Amino acid sequence: MKHLISLLFTLVIASASIYSVNMSYSIIPEPVKIRSMEGNFSLTTETTLLYKGLEEMNSVNFFRKYVLDFYGIELKIQKVKALTKKGNYIKFVLKKRASKEVEGAYTAGVAKNGVTLSAGTPEGLFYATQTLIQLLPPKSAFTEVKRAKAQAEKNGELFMTSPPFTAVLPVPCVAITDYPRFEYRGMHLDVVRHIYSVDYVKNYIDFLALHKMNYFHWHLTDDQGWRIESKKYPLLNSIGSWRDGTIIGIFPGTGVDSTRYGGFYTVEQIKDIIDYAAKRYITVVPEIDVPGHSMAIIASYPQFSTTPNIPKKPAITWGIFNRQNNVLAPSEEVFRFLEDVFNELMDIFPSKYIHIGADECSKRWWNRSPAVQDYIAKNNLVDGNGLQKYFAQRIAAVIKARGREFVGWDEMLEDGLVEGAVVMSWRDGKHGIEAAKQGHKAIMTPIEYSYFNVSQKKDEDTLCHKQWVLPVKKVYYCEPVPDSVSADIAKYIIGGQGCMWTEYFPNRYRLEWGIFPRMTALSEIYWSPKSKKNWNAFSVKLLDQFDRYDLWNVNYSNEFFESSGLKRK
Ligand code: ACM
Repeated sequence: MKHLISLLFTLVIASASIYSVNMSYSIIPEPVKIRSMEGNFSLTTETTLLYKGLEEMNSVNFFRKYVLDFYGIELKIQKVKALTKKGNYIKFVLKKRASKEVEGAYTAGVAKNGVTLSAGTPEGLFYATQTLIQLLPPKSAFTEVKRAKAQAEKNGELFMTSPPFTAVLPVPCVAITDYPRFEYRGMHLDVVRHIYSVDYVKNYIDFLALHKMNYFHWHLTDDQGWRIESKKYPLLNSIGSWRDGTIIGIFPGTGVDSTRYGGFYTVEQIKDIIDYAAKRYITVVPEIDVPGHSMAIIASYPQFSTTPNIPKKPAITWGIFNRQNNVLAPSEEVFRFLEDVFNELMDIFPSKYIHIGADECSKRWWNRSPAVQDYIAKNNLVDGNGLQKYFAQRIAAVIKARGREFVGWDEMLEDGLVEGAVVMSWRDGKHGIEAAKQGHKAIMTPIEYSYFNVSQKKDEDTLCHKQWVLPVKKVYYCEPVPDSVSADIAKYIIGGQGCMWTEYFPNRYRLEWGIFPRMTALSEIYWSPKSKKNWNAFSVKLLDQFDRYDLWNVNYSNEFFESSGLKRK
């Protein structure tokens, strides 16, 4: 008890020094231009957030909640006709967009007597808001006291009530001009191998927002489960959303945990998540992965497979399944099914991009099926690649009919790209460049630099894919557009993302170990100018970022400290 009281006082006293010495800043991703100035703006309970219209509200609300949640300061807000007031204000200014302005551009000006965030679009203003958040002290005595108190209560110990918290947050004076390098900056999440709650998916979306990312690629179907409510095909949920167990340990596993596992998101829950993301200027790109990775579908509707008479179940293990059938067989009934489920998907998701999977389709099931070979011959498709392309064509027609664009993994290149295909380049960056050469949009996520389900160091002692080692420094050195790529090809490379496959990531602590700090490095690749790339400068900024992870109460890997020799601040 005594030591808890003293901890409390230490923290409160510490708060004064923590907050008063912070004259530097660590903005990630690095902005295009920063001009430092003398002095600080003081953010206090007297600070008022000023705005003119509804379009500024997403930024105002996000900032207000962040400051309240993590610093315990309740800011005032005020809607005004003109943003001319002077004093302890933060102005959220939406101005007319300049004709050549990059989507998402903003300026942020912090002066001793006030802060002005300004942009030509609401998303630009939201990015300005994220920058302002990063100008706040990364440590918070309020949060530390709150956590110590919660811990004491959990342990059944007494904790003295906090005295009124009167923090003043110094915000260093700067003038920032900024805009993103790429239009697509994202993170992927596989909710099939392990499912995450609606609340946690929202948390994950907040992580994207805090890194100025704008696409959340949601991997919703695979061999181990179907995670979207389907009104038209209810067996996808009653059968396809559940597996009988899960292998234990690294594939092929040391045994099976036979607990039934699964679930799916209702249409209402998905709409709630889409709305949550939209308020953060994040588009949710849904993926239905076909014609391979379809074991959950054919477990529900075996007639859609090449072996309709063999009973099937969603997979309890991982991998590409050469031994278990997991591909769709072509038939008009299957194409009607695909038309229906993709239409159901597009009824829910407003995203311009719809992901059709198209990866790792094991053609052996088609090769050994006389009915499929007959289908290939009748439709002049030549072989399995021709058939996979035909699947893409049929689904593409459904997606294009609704004015959307379809995205697929880079195996689509082997089949010959269907008109309008957007290629997600995962096996390496070369596939994306090849797609770009063919005049197709490409989204980069080269496995070697962007898959966050792998080891962070040699001899990793935690459960994850061990075939590769991907420390944060290597992520930082990913370059989506090598110098050898000419500008007329580079323009098709619209950005990139990190991928989080969850075979070995069954809960948020494991997941956060996978993504932090790697997604922080990735955010700088796709936002900041190439000329600003500087690992040493980034390393110093990461020290503050680790304090932010603590502020957010998230888990992370410590590999950075082991390899860099740097110490926590
Ligand atoms: C993939 O990792 N199979 C896209």
